[in-house]
Parts: sequence; C-alpha cells; structure tokens
Amino acid sequence: MSSTTFSPARLLVFGATGAIGKYIMEAILAARPAFQHVTIFTSANTAVTKKDLLTRWKTGGVPMSVFVGDVNSEEDVKRAYQSEAPDTIISALGRGALTIQTNLVQLAAQAETVKWFFPSEYGTDIEHNAKSPNEKPHQHKLALRKFIRDSIRPEQLHITYLVTGPYFDMWVHAASPLLGGFDPSKKAASIISDGEAKVGFCTMPDVGKFLVAALRHPTESFDKALKVQSFVVTPNQVLGEYEKQTGGDKWSVTYVPLEELRAAETKAWHETPGSATGFTLRRIWAEGGTLYEKNDNELIGIGPDDTENLAYAVTKALKQ
Ligand SMILES: NC(=O)c1ccc[n+]([C@@H]2O[C@H](COP(=O)([O-])OP(=O)(O)OC[C@H]3O[C@@H](n4cnc5c(N)ncnc54)[C@H](OP(=O)(O)O)[C@@H]3O)[C@@H](O)[C@H]2O)c1
Repeated sequence: MSSTTFSPARLLVFGATGAIGKYIMEAILAARPAFQHVTIFTSANTAVTKKDLLTRWKTGGVPMSVFVGDVNSEEDVKRAYQSEAPDTIISALGRGALTIQTNLVQLAAQAETVKWFFPSEYGTDIEHNAKSPNEKPHQHKLALRKFIRDSIRPEQLHITYLVTGPYFDMWVHAASPLLGGFDPSKKAASIISDGEAKVGFCTMPDVGKFLVAALRHPTESFDKALKVQSFVVTPNQVLGEYEKQTGGDKWSVTYVPLEELRAAETKAWHETPGSATGFTLRRIWAEGGTLYEKNDNELIGIGPDDTENLAYAVTKALKQ
C-alpha cells in the first residue's frame, strides 16, 4: 500500500463513549466529506448504559454500527475486524485497558483490511526526555510502543500516536489544591511553582479535531508521534484570563512549590497508588514536559485560528 493513495474510509473505534472517546467520535461524525462507515466496538454494559448516546450517533446521518463484544476476547476482536472490514482503527481505551492493545494491534496487523492504527495516547509525551522512561504512568504506553517497534512493520500496519498534552478542560479542575486548580465560586486558585512556566494544552473538542486532521493527512501522520496543541500559556496567564472574565478582581492564589508536589507524589505512590498518576502527570507538566521547539499542528493542516484559544476555553470552563 502506498501512503499517497490511501485515504481512510471505514473506521473502527474502541472506547468511543469514554471521556475523550466521545469528543473523538463527535469530530469523526461531524467530518465532511463524511467517512464511509464508522463502527464502535463496545462492551455489553456500555451498549445498555449509554444507549441514548449510541442511538443519537446512529441516527446522525453517517453510516454507523455498534459491535458489542469483549475487548479481552480475541474471537470478538477478530470477528469485528472481519465483519466490519475497517481500514483504520482508533483506540480511546481507558488507562485500565491499555495493555489489551498489544493484542488489538497484533490482530490488526493480521487483518486483511486494516492499514492504520491509533493507539490510546491523547496525553503526555511519553518519550519527552531522559526521565520519561522511568515515569510510572507511562509504562503501559511505553511497552506498547516497544512492542510495535519490535514486532510490527509499517508494510503490515501504520501506527500514529496522537500526543495532546493535558486537557485544559480537566486541568483547571484539580482534585486537590496540591495539584493546582481554579475555583471561580471562591475566586481562588492554586498554582504549581511560580506560575511562569509555559504549559502546552489541548481542549477536549480539539483532540477530536486533531484526530480527524491526522486521518485527513495519512502521509504526514503515518508512523509518527504527532505532537499537537490548542495553545501554550503560563498558569499565571490562565489566572489573568479567569480574573478578567469574572469582573476583574484579583483572585486569592496559593502557589505550591514543586518540591511540595514532588513530596505529595512520592507519598501517593506509597500510600494511595490509585490516585498517584495525577500527581506525577501534573509534576511533569509543570516541569516543561509539554513543550517542544515546534508542534505538528501545521503538518496536519491545523493553523493558529483553527483551535480553541485560552479566552474561549476559560469562558467554557466558567459555564461548567
Ligand atoms: N491528556 C489528558 O489530560 C488525559 C486525561 C485523561 C485521559 N487521557 C488519556 O486518554 C486515553 C483515554 O482515557 P479516558 O479517560 O478517555 O478513558 P475512559 O473514559 O476511562 O475509558 C474509555 C473506554 O475504555 C473502555 N474500557 C474497556 N475496558 C476498560 C478498562 N478495564 N478500563 C478502562 N476502560 C476500559 C470502555 O469502553 P467500552 O465499555 O465501550 O468498551 C471505556 O468507556 C488514555 O490513553 C488516557 O491516558 C488523557
């Protein structure tokens, strides 16, 4: 297959109704010209609990089918790959299901029709610097990249990792003051370090937009980790935007030293590992782990005015 002649038409999406999967699906279904066919592979439970969402999508005008199966079942996955004949697979599986993807990729490489696979990434650049290989939250994604490097040839299957950095929509709402966050009801913020270090963000709708842009640019996207960003700003600029949009008063701000976050991170991995990932990722983002000399927006045809900007993202956050 030559990359210049391939154009994805039949998509299969894992994790389509999840936190980021929903945004990816909305963008895929809204894309024009429309994709020929979209299949969602989903669990029996989700098929029932999110029936209304699935019905809305199915009646939205783009040919779509729902394949109900178990992602852990090789038979179910093979059947989906055969019966739906996808040429491109997009995984938006959650963190708990990342290791399953080795099988999904291997089966995709063997499937006759499948040419392209997007593993579930949509987050931090897991190969950013010398410290990246040791970061605990990266391990499953790194293992999948290693498996792909060692075992999958581009002639069998092309791979694209969409690296988006933190979702602004989630970053502004932190679970603990130690993690940084903005509370409009109290006009209060907590900010890691001095708030002057830039962070590259994506909004969740823009993740869907970037995914569709990658689909429209196969040659530029094949076998790459695409780094995409809605905007790059400092936490103090975010604070300034909140202050401006809430009447101009100064907010009360607690600055959390990086050392304090690092100590909380170590404690969380010892005592409550289930909640520790957030600490590590916020530390990485505050340390410059989302910054590049140049991102890949332009490579896939996304210009400066095509993404959501800080002002718009704060307006949306204030309405939540
Ligand atoms: N950049 C950021 O700020 C950020 C934030 C959050 C997540 N992410 C990344 O985005 C990707 C998707 O995460 P998400 O939070 O959107 O996913 P999620 O909502 O937790 O899960 C997505 C879907 O995965 C399927 N799934 C099947 N087995 C699962 C299991 N054992 N554990 C979890 N999910 C399972 C479920 O779909 P079915 O029932 O349909 O099978 C579920 O709805 C991940 O790679 C994650 O690291 C990035």
